[in-house]
Amino acid sequence: MSYYKIDNLEQYFKHYNKSVREPRKFWGKIAEENFTWYQQWDKVVEFNMVDAEVEWFSGAKVNIVKNCIDRHLNKRGEKTAIIFEPNDVNEEALHITYNELHQRVSKMANVLREQGIKKGDRVCIYLPMIPELAVSVLACARIGAIHSVVFAGFSASAVASRIIDSECKMVITSDGGFRGSKTIELKPIIDEALEKCPSVSTVLVVKRTNATIKMKEGRDIYVQPLLDEASDNCVAEIMDAEDPLFILYTSGSTGKPKGMVHTTAGYMVYSAYTFKNVFNYEENDIFWCTADIGWITGHSYILYGPLLNGATTVIFEGVPSYPDFSRFWEVIEKHSVTQFYTAPTAIRALAKESLDYVLKYPFKSLKVIGSVGEPLNEEAWHWYNDHVGAKRCPVVDTWWQTETGGIMIAPLAFVTPTKPTYATLPLPGVQAVLMDERRNEIEGNQQEGSLCIKFPWPGIARTIWNDHARYKEIYFSQFPGKYFTGDAALRDEVGYYRITGRVDDVVIVSGHNLGTAPIEDAINEHPAVAESAIVGFPHDVKGKALYGFVILKETGELRNKENLSLEINNHISGHIGPIAKLDKIQYVSGLPKTRSGKIMRRILRKIAEGDYSNFGDTSTLLNPEIVEEIKEGRIE
Ligand code: PRX
Repeated sequence: MSYYKIDNLEQYFKHYNKSVREPRKFWGKIAEENFTWYQQWDKVVEFNMVDAEVEWFSGAKVNIVKNCIDRHLNKRGEKTAIIFEPNDVNEEALHITYNELHQRVSKMANVLREQGIKKGDRVCIYLPMIPELAVSVLACARIGAIHSVVFAGFSASAVASRIIDSECKMVITSDGGFRGSKTIELKPIIDEALEKCPSVSTVLVVKRTNATIKMKEGRDIYVQPLLDEASDNCVAEIMDAEDPLFILYTSGSTGKPKGMVHTTAGYMVYSAYTFKNVFNYEENDIFWCTADIGWITGHSYILYGPLLNGATTVIFEGVPSYPDFSRFWEVIEKHSVTQFYTAPTAIRALAKESLDYVLKYPFKSLKVIGSVGEPLNEEAWHWYNDHVGAKRCPVVDTWWQTETGGIMIAPLAFVTPTKPTYATLPLPGVQAVLMDERRNEIEGNQQEGSLCIKFPWPGIARTIWNDHARYKEIYFSQFPGKYFTGDAALRDEVGYYRITGRVDDVVIVSGHNLGTAPIEDAINEHPAVAESAIVGFPHDVKGKALYGFVILKETGELRNKENLSLEINNHISGHIGPIAKLDKIQYVSGLPKTRSGKIMRRILRKIAEGDYSNFGDTSTLLNPEIVEEIKEGRIE
């Protein structure tokens, strides 16, 4: 019996039970049958959840790029591995076959070696969404260098702090990039960042915009001439299962960004397995994840997961609004995309626009539509399901984190019945539990608590770069012996999970534990409301009361605000109960969001409390100017 693919719900339960009862047999068999290894492992898993130590497949020798590319060449050499869809609709899309990808990655890997990069060295990649980004990531992995991809929208100081933290030896960047109607400069940002980064000796520069840029002698090199000269024969480095594969920085709510470290074999097995099952991947499907490779979603579901399965994956350089709001839908049609994976923030933004943008496409190819990154509210779920999925494609609302490496709780397409706003069931291998305030596990269904995982899964991050103590403190100290996700969740009557928000976002009003997501959901359903965010603020009687920041749809602006506030509160009462009513409602034109689309609630919380002293690290904000506006409009 193979465990790699789940075909129906009954089989899901069988596999799930097997993964709990005999995790070593379960993952051992998957690893053995679906990947190529230089040498087998001694132990499938060893762990100590109190000290935050986890090892998967220790003793094994493997190279993830051999698994992503080389092993497919016999059967799929001429198959398209990557479809590159450029920002400009007039620029032709590129189809890169597995043979071509092999050649390009091998050449790049040889260039890195010639430039002195060895196994274990850190390489910062700061590139727009172009094929060279994928090639650079894979070239690092081929020679055992640890890639640290930094989203090419971060500022010089944000890049610098990430380079310094992991002491990168090299940066791979480009002159610039295209995003919508804008041309973005990247090299000048790296120049500024590197003034503070003595560890970097080489900068490889890809030409994308042909902008005139400064090249520092002895440090900066255009990469194309080196690639032209490089051999396309590159022996892959033989890696230990637990050798680091990459570092990816994720911003915490406080303090400096955390360099999450993912290692080779466990991440490989987990990203491949979850891709196959959540999206019901079949040979010849065309998979499109709209994330940037600078986020974990892009690492696992643009690159590693799809390539490990020999799939065709789309890399999109542009934005959903350029040249107009039909771009996503047009690309699905153009490339016959079968699985489409995006974020609630994009879904909500597109749902605000005319339906005509969507309805002009029949979406015949589409089979599965997915979401990730934050709760997918009920209204957005239905819009996505009805108009993009045509009520025919399962909506897979996938819950996971940078730290988990791959999807943890999600419907498996065509296997798990979906339910709006629910991430549904944990994947095999994921032993999810809810914990109460006394740190006891909550048994039974129809319960709410802090979401923890009580057994390691192969994709778990192993540490924070250079700071294991912080890793242990953040994830393993609150509920000793368990991994704490930081999220709160609800388990319904059949055991489906709904993520209700970060635990920090739970507000206790008059002793009632209120997650912010369901309240926001209710508010967003009001016809005049486009988006909202709720935080708690101290209240003499209730302990905490609720403060709502609300963005109105354009049509709503003419309305009387007092009446509207009453209506919104009645709406909440009807959906959740009077206890969840907002004490203060402030109408705003925007919300402070991170570049990955998450609302930075700690800033809103501070404003609600009237405390402007320290907003913490705001370097990841997309729209810092909104903070002033919100401060000025604060309701006393
Ligand atoms: O709060 C959860 C939310 O995003 C957090 C993880 O963020 P990040 O590390 O940036 O990774 C995002 C992409 C994997 C989680 O702790 N989150 C993610 N997916 C969902 C979600 N909240 C609700 N529903 C989801 N599907």
